[in-house]
Amino acid sequence: RPRVLSGIQPTAGSFHLGNYLGAVRQWVALQEDHDAFYCVVDLHAITVEQNPKELRQNTRVSAAQLLALGIDPDRATLFVQSHVPEHAQLGWVMQCLTGFGEASRMTQFKDKSARQEAAVGVGLFTYPILQAADILLYQAHYVPVGEDQRQHLELTRDLATRFNSRYGKTFRLPEAYIVKDTAKIYDLQEPTAKMSKSVPGGVVELLEDPKRSAKKIRSAVTDTGREIIFDVENKPGVSNLLTIFSALTGRSVESLVQDYDGKGYGDLKKDLGEVFTEWVTPVQDRVRMYLDDVASLDKILAAGAERARDVASGTLRRTYEKIGFVLPE
Ligand code: TYM
Repeated sequence: RPRVLSGIQPTAGSFHLGNYLGAVRQWVALQEDHDAFYCVVDLHAITVEQNPKELRQNTRVSAAQLLALGIDPDRATLFVQSHVPEHAQLGWVMQCLTGFGEASRMTQFKDKSARQEAAVGVGLFTYPILQAADILLYQAHYVPVGEDQRQHLELTRDLATRFNSRYGKTFRLPEAYIVKDTAKIYDLQEPTAKMSKSVPGGVVELLEDPKRSAKKIRSAVTDTGREIIFDVENKPGVSNLLTIFSALTGRSVESLVQDYDGKGYGDLKKDLGEVFTEWVTPVQDRVRMYLDDVASLDKILAAGAERARDVASGTLRRTYEKIGFVLPE
C-alpha cells in the first residue's frame, strides 16, 4: 500500500476550518487504502516561543482533535513528532545538504518572520528542512497538505534528489497531495487572504462555541451584488462560503447555486452556520471524551510512536551508512 505522511502544528490548540478542509479531511480518507503516518509536530511548534504548560496541553488537544475528526489509530499511525528522535537526527543531515540561499527563498519564512515582533530564531529559518526530514524518513509517496505547503514539498523533493545523487538512491521522491477545491480556505472577513490563526479575523475554530462560529459565518464579508454564484475572482466571499458549504455537506457547488437561486446572501450564511454547528457539535463531544481520559490518549500516542520508530530508525540507519558514519554495533 502506498505510504502517506503528514503533520500538523499543535501551536494553537484548536484547529481551524482551513486545517480540516485543506488537510485533515484528506488524512481521514487516505487512511482507508494507504499506509498512513500522521504526526503532531511539536518540534516545529517551538520555532516560536511556547508556554510549556500550553504546549503540553495543546499537543494532547491536537491528538484528540485528530481522533475526533476520524483518524483511526488502528488504521493510521498517529504519533507525536518528539517521540521519534529520528526526526531531529535526519533534520540535521538535511540541514547540511541545504543551501543558505535555497532556505532563504521559502516564502512562509519570509511571511512569518516579517509578522513576528520577537526576535526570529534560526529554527524558524530551518523549519522547512525539518519538515523534509519528517517526510523522507517514512519514504512517503504522498503528502496531503493545503496549498501553502507546496513550496516546502518542492524543497523536500530537491533535498531527496540531491542526497540520492550524491550518495546513491536512498529516499523516495514524495508528491504533494493537494485537493484543488479545498486547498485554500479563505478568511471570512478578508476572503482574499488564507484562513490562519496568526491573522485573526474571520477564523472559524473547531473548538470554539459553535454559536460564535455561526455568528462569524453570518457576518462573513460578502460581495457587491446579490446573486449567489461561484466566481472566485469577482465574488471571493460568496465563493469561499460555497466551497465550505459543499465540503461539509458533500453537495456540489453547482447544486447549491441552483438551490439558492433567487435567495439572498443572508439565507446562505444562516444555513451554513447551521450546517457547521451540526457537523462540529459531535466532533467537540468526541474531543472532550478523548481528553477526559488522558491515560488512554497517551497510550494511543505511545503505540503510534513505536510503529513510527520502526520505520524511521531503518531509514536513518541506511542514511548514516551512506554518509559514511561508523554505525554503532
Ligand atoms: P499547519 O499546522 O500550519 O497546518 C496544517 C495543515 O493545514 C493546512 N492549512 C490550510 N489548508 C487550506 N486552507 C487554509 N486556510 C489552511 N491553513 C492551513 C496546511 O496546508 C497543512 O497541511 N509545516 C506544516 C506542518 C508539517 C508538515 C510536516 C506537513 C510539519 N511537518 C510534514 C506535512 C508533512 C504546517 O505548518 O502545517
